[in-house]
Amino acid sequence: MRARRQPSLTLRATLAFSVVAMLAVASAGMYLYETMKGAVMTRSDHAVLARLDHFRKLLQYDLTLTTLQSSPQLFENMLDSEDDIFIIAEPGKPAVIMVNPLHAPLPSMPVVPANMPLSVADMRSGMLDSGVFDSEVPMRAATVEAVSGGKVVHLTAAHIAVKEMATLAGFRNRILLAVSLAFVVTALLGYVLLGRGLRPLRRMASHAAAITPAQLDSRMDNRDTPVELQQLGEAYNAMLDRLADGYQRLTQFSADLAHEIRTPVGSLMGHCQVALRQPRTEDEYQALLASNLEELERISRMVESILFLARADEAQSALNRQTLNLADELQRVAGYFEGLAEERDIALHTKGDARIEADPLLLRRALSNLVANAIRYADEGSAIDIRVVVGSRHCRIEVENQGPTLDDATLGKLFDRFYRGDASRHQSSDSNGLGLAIVAAIMQLHGGEVAVNQPAPGRICFGLVFPIS
Ligand SMILES: Nc1ncnc2c1ncn2[C@@H]1O[C@H](COP(=O)(O)OP(=O)(O)O)[C@@H](O)[C@H]1O
Ligand SMILES: [Mg+2]
Repeated sequence: MRARRQPSLTLRATLAFSVVAMLAVASAGMYLYETMKGAVMTRSDHAVLARLDHFRKLLQYDLTLTTLQSSPQLFENMLDSEDDIFIIAEPGKPAVIMVNPLHAPLPSMPVVPANMPLSVADMRSGMLDSGVFDSEVPMRAATVEAVSGGKVVHLTAAHIAVKEMATLAGFRNRILLAVSLAFVVTALLGYVLLGRGLRPLRRMASHAAAITPAQLDSRMDNRDTPVELQQLGEAYNAMLDRLADGYQRLTQFSADLAHEIRTPVGSLMGHCQVALRQPRTEDEYQALLASNLEELERISRMVESILFLARADEAQSALNRQTLNLADELQRVAGYFEGLAEERDIALHTKGDARIEADPLLLRRALSNLVANAIRYADEGSAIDIRVVVGSRHCRIEVENQGPTLDDATLGKLFDRFYRGDASRHQSSDSNGLGLAIVAAIMQLHGGEVAVNQPAPGRICFGLVFPIS
């Protein structure tokens, strides 16, 4: 089943950036809007207060109510806008002057006494929602007492913030426009820039898509890759290195395998062809069959070894771990090879003991391979030491013998599949170069390793290293 297609990284990041930009512009705009609204309203409050103060003084000193009543232009041009309210009334009587074009209801207000100064705290707010405006319009009003010609009158003034609201609405629209612009511009810019930034990823994808087994040596160029992707690029190249290495080994292995099998098969065919050229005696046929059987057994051993290696490559679970007494194991293997060693006049010395967890059959097989090699490649009449060395974290089974001195390059190749030294190539037919590869595979299955070193010229020492848990 195909996984649901996820939205692209570019799209997601661009959207996130745009939303952030939008929020930033919106909050700055809101802050400015509120500040501006506050300033505008304070200014209009002061205008109302100044108007009241002015008329209070006028009435108190030189203007009579009747004069004012008869010349409305005196106060009309004092008003801020045509909607503003101005009322003069004696307490408990109908108003003498009444300007309230919108018939706006007034909030209830305290009356500031004649001898007290006016302040913003004496003002009250109201809302006007007459059908004239789309939304409610705030109103600010105050009432003062004045004494005119011995009579007490109440002056009420109010300002309806129609113009202010219109200005603020215009300002709000600009903010909304800026917010939308911020979103669109950031989205576009982000999309373009991110698209460029992620170009190396696309390059990597097309590079990976072009890789075939025949092209495993091609590598990504990481020079102009951003730091964040450099790690990925390097890991990718390292993976290709390992794949190329593994693939090369595999190719080499199958080439070697074909080569190794061709020789015995060729020789089998040769023997048969020669035998068939003319009639043979029964003895001759028997000898031929015996020699063919030997060759076939060699092939069979090789096939068995290759199968073992192939299984060891994939299976980890096949281990049958048991607690083993190493002294017994060394004894057992040494006993088994005694006859073979004697033929070459070689002495086998075993030493040391330990208990480890290992698969007995595999351990015996690994150790036998080492001992068989030692007997085969040791100098005639020398001695072979088989010993257990216990360290703090490892336990080693060492097999040391006297033999040819090998250079470092050769030492590195000993564990390769099908690698054989010259000595073994010229020697007996049961050498196939897989023995040490099998030892290495067995040790890997046990979580350990096989090591080789030359403690002194002409002495070679193989060690099976088991970790102690
Ligand atoms: N104890 C040893 N002393 C010297 N050379 C050795 C010893 N063990 C192995 N070698 C070298 O390592 C090669 C690989 O060993 P191995 O994998 O067991 O293959 P084989 O024994 O079939 O040749 C041998 O051909 C030999 O040249
Ligand atoms: Mg061998």
